[in-house]
Parts: sequence; structure tokens; C-alpha cells
Amino acid sequence: DAGSKSGRGALVVLEGLDRSGKSSQCARLLSYLEGQGCRAEGWRFPDRGTCVGQMISAYLANESQLDDRTIHLLFSANRWEKRALMESKLLGGTTLIVDRYSYSGVAFSAAKGLDIQWCKAPDVGLIAPDLVIYLDVQPEKAAERGGYGGERYEKIEFQKRVADHYHSLRDSTWKVVDGSLPMETVEEQLRELATNCIQECQEKPLTNLTW
Ligand code: TMP
Ligand code: MG
Repeated sequence: DAGSKSGRGALVVLEGLDRSGKSSQCARLLSYLEGQGCRAEGWRFPDRGTCVGQMISAYLANESQLDDRTIHLLFSANRWEKRALMESKLLGGTTLIVDRYSYSGVAFSAAKGLDIQWCKAPDVGLIAPDLVIYLDVQPEKAAERGGYGGERYEKIEFQKRVADHYHSLRDSTWKVVDGSLPMETVEEQLRELATNCIQECQEKPLTNLTW
């Protein structure tokens, strides 16, 4: 079986607008992989469980105000504080299914008008994903989905700008999946993409994010 071959795990990232279905699909993908006997964990950023994560969470809930660059760097720090654990999990053969990563960091901050290169810089040196799955849903459609939860960025005009920035970040590791298709269809596509990725990257070394 795959586990005993001692290959490394894959870093699979899901990205998309708020209410694009990422969290549900991450959970479905994770339980599928576990059912296949694959060692996998579900992660998410922001990780609200750390001290930095609590500051981010308060900011998103509009309970605190922070300068745009300050919150950007906190989101990045929240990934840096998990980098060592992420590396040891991956090298130990565990696949990580991650709900949001550096692309959220850049797309959301750039949508506020911050310089894109400035936004990318603090994440250089984090672990580069093996696969980024972008769940593509029109901002209007996402907004219809049970309404936003009232967090800071959950406004349709803002999400449109975020979508434009996501678009310009796409590179060769990205697969765009139509998130407006039925949940089961999306799930099926994610299973195939993730399974292929896990097989292909077993013998590949980890690399760092360079953008
Ligand atoms: P969540 O709803 O997935 O928990 O994410 C919370 C919000 O934080 C969401 O609107 C996206 C935003 N975000 C950033 O602005 N920068 C980041 O680096 C990350 C990971 C999320
Ligand atoms: Mg949210």
C-alpha cells in the first residue's frame, strides 16, 4: 500500500471566494482519502487556534481594527508558525488538505489596494503546494448560498475584486474546478485531482514558495 512506501505526503490547497464550498469539499475529500487508507489531515488558514490566529479572528469579526499591512503580516505569520509542523507531517508521509493558503493572503489584501509584490513577499519560503484547486463560483452565486456569516470581507463588491486577483495568481499548479456544478460532481473531480497528485509527488522533494 501507499503508506508503507514511505513517500512523502502531498500539500493540496483549496482556494476560492467565501461561500465557494471549500470547507465542505475539504471535509468530503478528507473522508474519502481516509477511506482509501491514505494518511491525510485537514488543515485551514487562518488557523484560529493560535495566539496570532485569535488576533486574526477578532479582526475578521470586526471586534478589533488593524492597519491593512499589519493584518496582512499576521495572516502570513499564522502560516509561518505552522511551517515546521507542516514540513514534518509531509515528510512523514501525511497528505495535508488545506482550506486556504498564501493565495488567499495575496488576493484579499491586494483587493484592498495593497501592492501585489509587497503582499507576496512575506510568504516566500513557505512550503509550495503540489496542487492548488480553485473552486470557481461567481461572487453573486456565492452570496446567494445561505448568506454570508457577517465577517469583515463578506461583501459582494469586495469579493469581485478578490476574484480578479485570484485570477491573476493562477499558475501551473492550479486546477480550476467549476464550483457551481452539483456538489457530487465537484467532489468527484477533486477526488481524481488529489489522488493523481498524491501518487505523483511521493518521490518529489518539497519545494519552497517563490511565486
Ligand atoms: P475563512 O472564512 O476561510 O475562515 O477565512 C476568513 C477570511 O480571511 C476570509 O474572508 C479570507 C480571509 N483571508 C485573508 O484575508 N488572508 C489570508 O491569508 C487568509 C488565509 C484568509
Ligand atoms: Mg469565511
